[in-house]
Amino acid sequence: MEKTDYDYIIIGSGIAGLNTALLAQDHGSVLILTKGRIEDCNTLYAQGGIAAALGPGDSAVLHMQDTMTAGAGLCDPEAVSVLTREGPQRVANLIKWGVPFDTIHGQIALGREGAHSMPRILHAGGDATGQHIETTLAQRVAQSEITVLEFSLATQILVEEGRAYGVDVLDTASGQRLEFRGRSIILATGGAGQLYRYTTNPQVATGDGVALAFNAGAAVMDLEFYQFHPTAFSMEGAPSFLLSEAMRGEGAVLRDVQGRAFMADYHPLADLAPRDVVSRAIANEMEKAGGGPVWLDISHLPADTVQARFPTIYSFCMEHGLDITKEPAPVAPAAHYMMGGIKADVWGRTSLDGLYACGEAACSAVHGANRLASNSLLDTLVFAQRVVSSTLGDAPNAGVDPAMPGAEPQGPAYAAATLTQRQLVCASAPTLSRESLQDLMWRNVGITRNGQRLLLSARILQLWQRTMPKPEDLPSYELANMVLLARLMVEAALLRQESRGSHFREDFPQPSEQWEKHLVFTQDIAR
Ligand code: FAD
Ligand code: SIN
Repeated sequence: MEKTDYDYIIIGSGIAGLNTALLAQDHGSVLILTKGRIEDCNTLYAQGGIAAALGPGDSAVLHMQDTMTAGAGLCDPEAVSVLTREGPQRVANLIKWGVPFDTIHGQIALGREGAHSMPRILHAGGDATGQHIETTLAQRVAQSEITVLEFSLATQILVEEGRAYGVDVLDTASGQRLEFRGRSIILATGGAGQLYRYTTNPQVATGDGVALAFNAGAAVMDLEFYQFHPTAFSMEGAPSFLLSEAMRGEGAVLRDVQGRAFMADYHPLADLAPRDVVSRAIANEMEKAGGGPVWLDISHLPADTVQARFPTIYSFCMEHGLDITKEPAPVAPAAHYMMGGIKADVWGRTSLDGLYACGEAACSAVHGANRLASNSLLDTLVFAQRVVSSTLGDAPNAGVDPAMPGAEPQGPAYAAATLTQRQLVCASAPTLSRESLQDLMWRNVGITRNGQRLLLSARILQLWQRTMPKPEDLPSYELANMVLLARLMVEAALLRQESRGSHFREDFPQPSEQWEKHLVFTQDIAR
């Protein structure tokens, strides 16, 4: 008979889930639920590394300044201060646990990435940082008492009298349904790149956590901000494999079809400008050239340097007939990272008692409107630790609803929103499938948006929501979650009549002071 009651139920087995589990095991029984194999997650693919202010002359203050600047006025200062101050200790813990970060002359090697004023990116295996982290943590979990259930899809958060107490699960191998109960339920379900036709994210990244939280009555926030990585491999028939920003940190240059370096035309930091700027610049260059990719050129560096620093990228390109030590690689932007998510305070508490969130699924506004490169892995470490502390009663202000405007005394304001009922579209809506959803999102809710296309998308999504059958297996649950999240994203993008960070509206191309606030969506649930 399977044990069904745990102190901690953690949904997700990326860095956020595994790290939380390893920290929580000292305080009670721990169950990890994960919908694929343990290593099926975004974490495995992380390349550039983890940002932490460890180098000479660097400081938490400088790291904070860079993070706030990239976040375009929507970072929560307290969250960023926590991230940058506590980050170095959490990274030290990863080193203690055995993650083999690269060194140079016996010191941790620190790389450079876009919009960082200092070299502060720790990496492992050159560009295989995520793989080293995931396998190291998974090995530690395997040696512990933590229970891991693979192929276990969380389908619903169970709530009673305003408190999350359990999780409904579909065993996707046997089709069996299970119910687990937990004192603390932690969503560490990662991002949602699969909402888009072109993405760096693996198949599991379908935004389930946001849908689970929203359906359970928790608040979600900042969903209009989705980051597009500027440089994903772009070749007919090949996946949108990431060509790390660390390449530009090491001197790689973006060139147009004529071979001209163009980034200096767009930003003083040229190739190391913030990601939203680089992605829009590339989209613009692609449009000028009739839609083809631009080129990422690192061929001026010594071949052995490139092979040693970027072994994964080098091998991937070779498999596709391209030697990056001799020629540039075709690249285009792809959906990469969800800045918004389940609204969480700096202790990982959501607006629903008993429910916590950390990692990419959570939104503490630490990244604002645009995440700084390599701050995500750091975010997962820092806030996973804080989730565990808050389950032990260490968080202040117990009893304050962290989702309510005014809970955080400083930083941008909050605006409450609910899903608007739209006039339904009739004849022209495409049939719902994962692919048609990805096409809709790529065309209408991508790097450049406008009110007309967003409104049409909102109507189509609402129609799909109303007419789709009840989910019963993994693909249909994922699709239902993606449609709900897409709808929340579109409604948020429609409401935000300005351009800021990763959200660019051609009908409102400037930022507006009036919009220096977070959009928080909840649904009314009678419990
Ligand atoms: P994930 O690692 O995605 O894990 C989520 C887990 O939840 C998965 O195990 C998934 O199967 C599980 N899950 C989801 N839904 C359910 C459900 N309903 N039921 C059960 N299980 C579920 N960030 C950096 O800081 N530095 C980098 O260098 C970097 N490089 C990147 C490169 C790539 C190609 C990508 C895609 C991302 C990169 N990022 C990087 C971002 C970073 O990797 C992610 O934000 C981070 O790994 C997220 O960790 P996580 O634990 O929150 O989510
Ligand atoms: C990259 O290596 O370019 C990805 C880094 C990140 O997403 O933080």
